[in-house]
Amino acid sequence: MAPRHRKRLLLGAVATALHGVVSAQNGNATSAGVKCPGEFKPLSASDFVENMNPGWNLGNTLDAVQDEGDWNNPKVAPRTFDDAQAAGFNGIRLPVTWAYHFETQAPDWTVDPAWLQRVSDVVDMITQRGFHTIVNVHHDSWIWADVTVPDANITAIEDKFYKLWYQIGVKLACKPSTVAFEPINEPPGTTPEHGAQQNRMNEIFLKAINDAGGWNGQRVVTLAGSGMDSVKTSLWFKAPAELGTRWKNPWALQFHYYSPYDFIFSAWGKTTWGSALDQSSLTTDLTLIRANFTTVPLLIGEWAASPVATEPAARWTYFDFFLRTARSLNMSTVLWDNGADFLNRATHDWRDAVALDILRNTVNGVGRRRNALPLATTDPAATNQTSSAYLYHRRRDGNGVGPVTLPFHFNGNSLVSIAYQDFTLKRGNDYTLDPAAETITFENAFLSSFFWNNPIGSLGNVTLHFSGGAHLEVNILAWDTPTLLLPNNSTSIALPKTGDLADVHIPLRWAGQNRPATVKATRADGKFLVDDWTQWLGPLQQGRMTYSGQWDWDAEGVILKKAVVEEVRRAGVETTFRIEFYPRVEGNWVEVSVVS
Ligand SMILES: *[C@@H]1O[C@H](CO)[C@@H](O)[C@H](O)[C@H]1NC(C)=O
Ligand SMILES: *[C@@H]1O[C@H](CO)[C@@H](O)[C@H](O)[C@H]1NC(C)=O
Ligand SMILES: *[C@@H]1O[C@H](CO)[C@@H](O)[C@H](O)[C@H]1NC(C)=O
Ligand SMILES: *[C@@H]1O[C@H](CO)[C@@H](O)[C@H](O)[C@H]1NC(C)=O
Ligand SMILES: *[C@@H]1O[C@H](CO)[C@@H](O)[C@H](O)[C@H]1NC(C)=O
Ligand SMILES: *[C@@H]1O[C@H](CO)[C@@H](O)[C@H](O)[C@H]1NC(C)=O
Ligand SMILES: *[C@@H]1O[C@H](CO)[C@@H](O)[C@H](O)[C@H]1NC(C)=O
Ligand SMILES: *[C@@H]1O[C@H](CO)[C@@H](O)[C@H](O)[C@H]1NC(C)=O
Repeated sequence: MAPRHRKRLLLGAVATALHGVVSAQNGNATSAGVKCPGEFKPLSASDFVENMNPGWNLGNTLDAVQDEGDWNNPKVAPRTFDDAQAAGFNGIRLPVTWAYHFETQAPDWTVDPAWLQRVSDVVDMITQRGFHTIVNVHHDSWIWADVTVPDANITAIEDKFYKLWYQIGVKLACKPSTVAFEPINEPPGTTPEHGAQQNRMNEIFLKAINDAGGWNGQRVVTLAGSGMDSVKTSLWFKAPAELGTRWKNPWALQFHYYSPYDFIFSAWGKTTWGSALDQSSLTTDLTLIRANFTTVPLLIGEWAASPVATEPAARWTYFDFFLRTARSLNMSTVLWDNGADFLNRATHDWRDAVALDILRNTVNGVGRRRNALPLATTDPAATNQTSSAYLYHRRRDGNGVGPVTLPFHFNGNSLVSIAYQDFTLKRGNDYTLDPAAETITFENAFLSSFFWNNPIGSLGNVTLHFSGGAHLEVNILAWDTPTLLLPNNSTSIALPKTGDLADVHIPLRWAGQNRPATVKATRADGKFLVDDWTQWLGPLQQGRMTYSGQWDWDAEGVILKKAVVEEVRRAGVETTFRIEFYPRVEGNWVEVSVVS
């Protein structure tokens, strides 16, 4: 992301309140410490990390650029934390961007007291509900604290970073031990020197919060390595030398995990997850960082597989495996939720109840019950993708549905019942079960009621209850291939010869699932338009592009992003875009050629 324009700073605004104490940086630690009433119940870092499991991120909210409410979420309401609590979360990570809330510039860098108060109030909303929480400095990492830009003034960045954390430290000095601090989110870094600089930032952060006083000297901190990346942290992170002597803070390490990139971000047609290679890569990643920090409490402060970008059976398999692996390595996890991913903050509904149930059962249920899971394609050489998260019926095949058999991994559980709304399906009549084969067959007696009038789209979800672990859902879905709606039934689009290009909208009438699976872009000369190396991937991935950066969708169709359209002009070759839909089977796509 490129930094956006900074809001004009309020020069000459009141900076006096903190002026004297901020200068304490140049004196010795604790020189201006806040004194707190009451008592502080110290927590070890391992207890803190354990107690906040599982955790949830209030994403895209107080971290929005430039202000709370500026991105896709309104200002946070207390009710949102009730929703997180009801869902079973124990910890809240509270990302905060401070960059646009400074009232003065160097040397004081006074933070707007109203913003400090807002953060303090939100922290109270969280702790009053019994959560453990982590407060951080978030997008500042790339807005002004990026030590990797060529002309970075490291002295100035360090100074501002100290002043900021000193003020946060003063404001939050008397918060209880359930409030931890995190110095900075995903600090950029590509070299060992950047890693060493981040180690210094951890020290400056410790000095600042200790100088601020209050309970901060006993407060848990979750320190960070470059990028909060597991490999760079393993290679370059060094605990501050004076941690344990000069600074007594209990400390954990935080890192983030969004891997494999292609599955998590819907790149290159990777809509499956769970092959032996997928599993061993994930296990290796987490095992290596644990092997580097055998005695340090480890917190995975961000991770996700969002319903926006992933297929349900693959997502549930990923949730189950990732969370079991993290648990087996004694790591706690904090789910990222940008407001469009999991919790619908307006309706208080969780968009994927099964994923949440898997999360609860895996975090709390290790050593007891595995989760049953739908069987789905995981083979990277597959030519189509099956998924027992759906009972798919292709509409053009007519009303005669017939029995449909879906395979599962029961993982040691037995199926107890199947429900549709308030109705419990009758075994033998509505469905049959083959416990040895781990298959469920939905019979015509049940299915025909859904399909008699030739419908399209999701017709209902049945809920599978097992003897242990999470419940599963099967989405009964009638589908057909969407229709291309270009004027005059055209299948091609001509780009303007000159001038700026823009996103190209390809109008579609959806038919079933109102979204694409992926988009393949093949040039008339046989090369792939972008990432030609994908020719070495499996049949479901070759030539496929990346969601969000290269394609997107809305209620009326699919969008080819400007970057891709520009690539067509640059290549100067007619390119066929094949928009592929779920289920990913032969022919379930439409093709549009774009002529430059
Ligand atoms: C401040 O700390 C330094 C070492 O960090 C020490 O040499 C010096 O005596 C201290 N000054 C005061 C006034 O405590
Ligand atoms: C870097 O920042 C420091 C502290 O603000 C300042 O004194 C110094 O002049 C700056 N250096 C450059 C090269 O701008
Ligand atoms: C520490 O992590 C690095 C980077 O992932 C890895 O190469 C190394 O093998 C790990 N160390 C141990 C002891 O596993
Ligand atoms: C998990 O790690 C903590 C330190 O973070 C340690 O106290 C605890 O004993 C570990 N538990 C297991 C089961 O290894
Ligand atoms: C899916 O692919 C498998 C082999 O990969 C093939 O046997 C099967 O017929 C295909 N099914 C459909 C519906 O294309
Ligand atoms: C079935 O569940 C999916 C996923 O939650 C949802 O999008 C769909 O609308 C549901 N179908 C019906 C008919 O409620
Ligand atoms: C559609 O076809 C008609 C008749 O051939 C033509 O006049 C019109 O310009 C075409 N419209 C578009 C948008 O191509
Ligand atoms: C588009 O195709 C449909 C179906 O083939 C046909 O009924 C319709 O007349 C066509 N419209 C135009 C504008 O050519």
